[in-house]
Amino acid sequence: MIHLKLQERLRAAFSKALPEANVDASVRPCADPKFGDFQCISVMPLAKTLKANPRQLATAVSEVLEVDDLCDSVEVAGPGFLNFRVKAEAMEAVCREAARGEHLFFGKTSNPRTIVVDFSSPNVAKPMHVGHIRSTILGDCLARLFRLQGHRVVTDNHIGDWGTQFGMLLVGWKQHLDEGALESDPIGELERIYKLVNVACKEDPAVLDRARAELVKLQAADDENLGIWKKMIDLSKVQFETIYRRLGVTFDETLGESFYNGRLGEVVSDLAGGGIARESEGAMCVFSDRQLPEKEDPFLIHRDGEWRDSPVLVQKNDGGFNYATTDLATLQYRLETWDPAEVIYVTDGRQQLHFRQIFNVFARWKPGTQSKLAHVWFGSILGDDGKPFKTRSGETVKLADLLNEAEERARRIVDEKNPELDEETKAEIARVVGLGAVKYADLLPNRQSDYVFSWDKMLSLQGNTAPYLQYAFTRIRSIFRKAAADGAEARLDPAALKLVHEDELGLASKLMEFGIVLNLVGEDYRPNLLCNYLFELAGSFSRFFEHCPVLKASPEERASRLVLCDLTARVLSQGLDVLGIGVTDVM
Ligand code: ARG
Repeated sequence: MIHLKLQERLRAAFSKALPEANVDASVRPCADPKFGDFQCISVMPLAKTLKANPRQLATAVSEVLEVDDLCDSVEVAGPGFLNFRVKAEAMEAVCREAARGEHLFFGKTSNPRTIVVDFSSPNVAKPMHVGHIRSTILGDCLARLFRLQGHRVVTDNHIGDWGTQFGMLLVGWKQHLDEGALESDPIGELERIYKLVNVACKEDPAVLDRARAELVKLQAADDENLGIWKKMIDLSKVQFETIYRRLGVTFDETLGESFYNGRLGEVVSDLAGGGIARESEGAMCVFSDRQLPEKEDPFLIHRDGEWRDSPVLVQKNDGGFNYATTDLATLQYRLETWDPAEVIYVTDGRQQLHFRQIFNVFARWKPGTQSKLAHVWFGSILGDDGKPFKTRSGETVKLADLLNEAEERARRIVDEKNPELDEETKAEIARVVGLGAVKYADLLPNRQSDYVFSWDKMLSLQGNTAPYLQYAFTRIRSIFRKAAADGAEARLDPAALKLVHEDELGLASKLMEFGIVLNLVGEDYRPNLLCNYLFELAGSFSRFFEHCPVLKASPEERASRLVLCDLTARVLSQGLDVLGIGVTDVM
């Protein structure tokens, strides 16, 4: 892979020019292809630390850099970039390797790490809604990426299967359950009884007391309540499973909150023993240790002109434990069990403070911990009106309904474009395209911004959408079908590949970026970078296809261009697969 070779040469040049400095000599795609294929921006931060002139520094590095075999030119540009224009022969060599199946423009990591990904994590007895979809889709994408790169990944669905809502659910189950409704729509019925009791609790303190009493009985492992609780979990899991199957998402573990119940007492006594938690108004709390600037301290809030304590509760005054306690126990268990280098939590932005507190408490509790802890948070999905996405009647949109609608809408497009296809094929295309559109719409925006949900936009065959990329893939497949139908030689011969036309070179240069983009996505947990890359790749392919005939070209050119077509199709489908999105041969 050229970017790896360039990085190696750069490292050598840096250590020659500046033996003392410790530089991360990485390259990335050139922002504007006019200036080259790859770019290194490591000089600027280095110049800053060394208080040197960045352009002089870049020039010094370029003078000792040995890349004549790989590059036509190395230019010092702007405030101290190094821009590389790769030789056609060097690109051809890499493309031939890929065509022979030696790689697909990315490498397996030389440093495999164990990464735990906590995502999806819906709550029992409640339907999964669109808020959970972003976590599921983002988390699954990151897990797929890390696996592809050769890391050891543990996906863990931390379902909410414990907590105060079960008091109300138990009252509802015992007093209001409609067995028939439970049979036909279990989650709907659980939701109904929950809402019923929730309202009753607000109106009648006696109901609230009953709910509390049922919860205490459950916590004390009362047989009847445990039985009902288990049934509610099983019913919910069936619903979750149906959705995961449709989305193609799997988990290695589904250790819900209740799995950690037995550990919570010890977590609190440990924290208390270490002087990290202390009693306050009957509850056990963790306060600030005043090690951080006030603005960054997750245990302080600014109110009425001063910084006040905002402790995190690890045990309530009635003895019950909190969401935070469970998360501390969970993290401890994960580190003990899998010894991960990294633990990633994928939830919406409203949990930012929670995770800052958890990470801080944990660091004080287990100071030797080396693992990187990351909260990968995301914004909300909005409706056309800019308010949180709801159904027309104002209810939260259920994930199953959303996926049904996506398939129905995609089906209309297929019916229109390809009425002659058989029923089974049409249904499969509608499934892959509809699902792909929903996933892509979720992954394309910068994850920290809110985005407006729009069926028309996400299903459009024009613009940066999944259907556009899936369609680009089918176009390439159809070239191969046509070639076969013409009886033309369509066997792929890696040795035939030659890069001559500027759009052939442009396409090859894009293909070479794939590995770097995958790395960037993993470093910053940003699938949107991969979406944008695939969109650019499809664009490079269109330009190539417009200006470089394939089937009508001379036999040599045709053989060469077919190899490029095939490589593009493979990178497109591999890239989409990382996003959890499938392709079909026709659309
Ligand atoms: N069940 C939680 C919710 O729906 C998400 C859990 C996220 N993971 C965690 N370890 N706290 O909000």
